[in-house]
Amino acid sequence: MKILVTGGLGFIGSNFIRYMLAKYSAYQIVNLDKVTYAGNFENLAGIDKDPRYQFFKGDIADSKLVNSLISVQKPDAIINFAAETHVDRSIMNPGDFINTDVFGTHILLNAVKDHNVKRYIQISTDEVYGDFDNGGFAKETSPLRPSSPYAASKAGGDLQVLAFRRTYNLPVLITRCTNNYGPYQYPEKIIPLFITNLLESKTIPVYGDGQQIRDWLHVDDHCSAIDLVLHKGVDGEIYNIGANQNPEITNLELTKRIITACGKDERSIEYVKDRAGHDRRYAVDVAKIKTELGWEPKYNFDSGIAQTISWYKNNLEWWKKIKTGEYLNYYKQQYVQR
Ligand code: NAD
Ligand code: TYD
Repeated sequence: MKILVTGGLGFIGSNFIRYMLAKYSAYQIVNLDKVTYAGNFENLAGIDKDPRYQFFKGDIADSKLVNSLISVQKPDAIINFAAETHVDRSIMNPGDFINTDVFGTHILLNAVKDHNVKRYIQISTDEVYGDFDNGGFAKETSPLRPSSPYAASKAGGDLQVLAFRRTYNLPVLITRCTNNYGPYQYPEKIIPLFITNLLESKTIPVYGDGQQIRDWLHVDDHCSAIDLVLHKGVDGEIYNIGANQNPEITNLELTKRIITACGKDERSIEYVKDRAGHDRRYAVDVAKIKTELGWEPKYNFDSGIAQTISWYKNNLEWWKKIKTGEYLNYYKQQYVQR
């Protein structure tokens, strides 16, 4: 099988490429990535020499490039990871999110239609369902109630996918996963940000009261779910993916666990002004992917977070290079001038 992965230099896309090349010796991967601040060639160090892997630099919103790439490469499937992904950046600058997450998705769908691609998976997020603060779990049929510009742009992408399914009967699927963690995550997201700040003996900024809930899933478990959806998913369907942590983990609980694992104490915590429009709780019902496709996560949170913290401790070079230049400007704008 030849798979066109978009956004494969990012956190989940690069983990997915590693996962697939390790599991399927005859598969080929074509990676289309714009190399934004979040795209990092070092995420695929070692893989770049693999003859089964090809890289193309470009924007999924560039129709000419996308169409010529697909007509030459003739992929059996497209998996769209490419997106602007950080909620805080979407609050600062929503425009980039519309271009990639909505318009870019539209360009890819048009290409699926015009080139008769046999499978398209849109990698979406549980954030499209919005806040589940009063208990309960979002089902795949739950209404979309995005709160942040990021979530709204992802919901816009999902709606494009569903409209192309209904109108043109395209072989498209959507996955909606909860928050991921693991190796190669850009240190703007809470887990790598807090681990690396603590390793640098800096403070860690907890938004508001820290009582928000996210359902943390190890990135390898997300990859195994996408692998199943690719091979067994039913066209036109949506699949929620999540760990269903029980008990649920608040940001403050998560913070305390990371502090302990890094050998620090709670004096490292700095409570800062809350994020605008901050969703209190995300929670999805994952019965469908479990019962229909037989998916089960491998990691529990304790083993996953311990492995992840060790990875950041053992890969100082990887994240120290990122925490320079543009990153420092972002950090100043986001936290110092908060
Ligand atoms: P990331 O920010 O780490 O990486 C995004 C990648 O997309 C980067 O390599 C970037 O260069 C590339 N990219 C951005 N705009 C592009 C464009 N216009 N054309 C081509 N490439 C472009 O993101 P991630 O955390 O790996 O997330 C991947 C996908 O998974 C996203 O669609 C995101 O919405 C979704 N998702 C993420 C999480 C999470 O916790 N990180 C959870 C659920 C769903
Ligand atoms: P984040 O990793 O940005 O993912 P998302 O907003 O997509 O869920 O944030 C996860 C949670 O952590 C969210 O409730 C916001 C909170 N958070 C902080 O408290 N401090 C921070 O510095 C960051 C980045 C996030």
